[in-house]
Amino acid sequence: MKREVRIGIIGAGRIGKLHARNLAYRVPGAKPVAVADVFVEAAQAVGAELDLAAHQDYRAIVEDKSIEAVFICSSTDTHAQIIEEAAEAGKQIFCEKPIALDLAKIDRALAAVERAGVKLQIGFNRRFDPNFKRVRDAVASGEIGTPHVLRITSRDPAPPPLAYVKVSGGIFLDMTIHDFDMARYLIGSEVESVYAAGAVLVDPEIGKAGDIDTTLITLQFANGVLGTIDNSRQAVYGYDQRVEVFGSGGMVTCSNELPNSAVVSNGNGVHGALPLFFFVERYTEAYIAESKAFIDCIVQDTTPPVVGLDGRIPVVMGYAAKKSFEEKRPVRLSEV
Ligand SMILES: NC(=O)c1ccc[n+]([C@@H]2O[C@H](COP(=O)([O-])OP(=O)(O)OC[C@H]3O[C@@H](n4cnc5c(N)ncnc54)[C@H](O)[C@@H]3O)[C@@H](O)[C@H]2O)c1
Repeated sequence: MKREVRIGIIGAGRIGKLHARNLAYRVPGAKPVAVADVFVEAAQAVGAELDLAAHQDYRAIVEDKSIEAVFICSSTDTHAQIIEEAAEAGKQIFCEKPIALDLAKIDRALAAVERAGVKLQIGFNRRFDPNFKRVRDAVASGEIGTPHVLRITSRDPAPPPLAYVKVSGGIFLDMTIHDFDMARYLIGSEVESVYAAGAVLVDPEIGKAGDIDTTLITLQFANGVLGTIDNSRQAVYGYDQRVEVFGSGGMVTCSNELPNSAVVSNGNGVHGALPLFFFVERYTEAYIAESKAFIDCIVQDTTPPVVGLDGRIPVVMGYAAKKSFEEKRPVRLSEV
């Protein structure tokens, strides 16, 4: 009989629903059986849609011995505790980013995973985007010679609600964290120091909430590469996700994905479609691919492609960027 991985999904919000639907319909070998959310109506709605048992308390999933793996998709402040409990119960774990905003909590969670000998994959979905993977492969295989400069542009179409901004941990830990992961992934070397400038240019309310909405960060990698990341919480033309790596033997770039490639030329100009609107649309295939990779590593008993340490390092980078912005100087990651 074909091996099925029985899965419980914890958190039935935006990303929990997305993963639950992918696991139900698009990921061979995955068998979602239960969903939990403190807001029980959310769990019930997903449960009814996908024929899953619905619970209010995630412990019903953690304690269910017939469930082999969990997808932790609840609010960030709950991840570390749930990882610890799920690891102790012997579950294989997929956890959304970030693991936590507190490094001591991350370390406790990673120690629990280590002790239990279970797998932990972190939800850095952009690594599974075929465009970025091609850029990474071009760098790793030497197609562009020795890499010298990395440029990442990552701009959201619209800022999140203020209530979200207030508990998000700030732009570096909430938004740039994906780009920090992408930087390590594309260059294949660790970042040694970061220098962050920031401003409130989109919405003064974001500033009043103690955050910034625009940032430009330079990175220095251990292998000598120099990098930049620019983020904005608002690009009026949609989700702007581009990268470029320049090296001694050439350059590799990837541009935005469009809903169609038609170009209309007329008396007013030359017009094409705007980029796919936001992460759900832009990374549809990447979310499916990361879940497939997680199921594969369980079935084949291999190491997940994005491990716990890959979840920890971008949080350190986020704190280094915050310190750099506050102190207006380059900050080495070893200072955090
Ligand atoms: N990888 C990505 O692209 C991506 C995208 C969006 C969100 N995320 C991450 O996913 C997580 C959830 O984000 P979201 O946008 O889906 O948020 P959301 O607010 O839409 O959903 C979170 C859900 O978790 C539930 N919840 C809170 N505490 C819980 C608990 N103890 N047990 C069970 N359920 C609980 C809430 O009731 C809510 O329904 C965050 O950590 C976020 O950073 C990742």
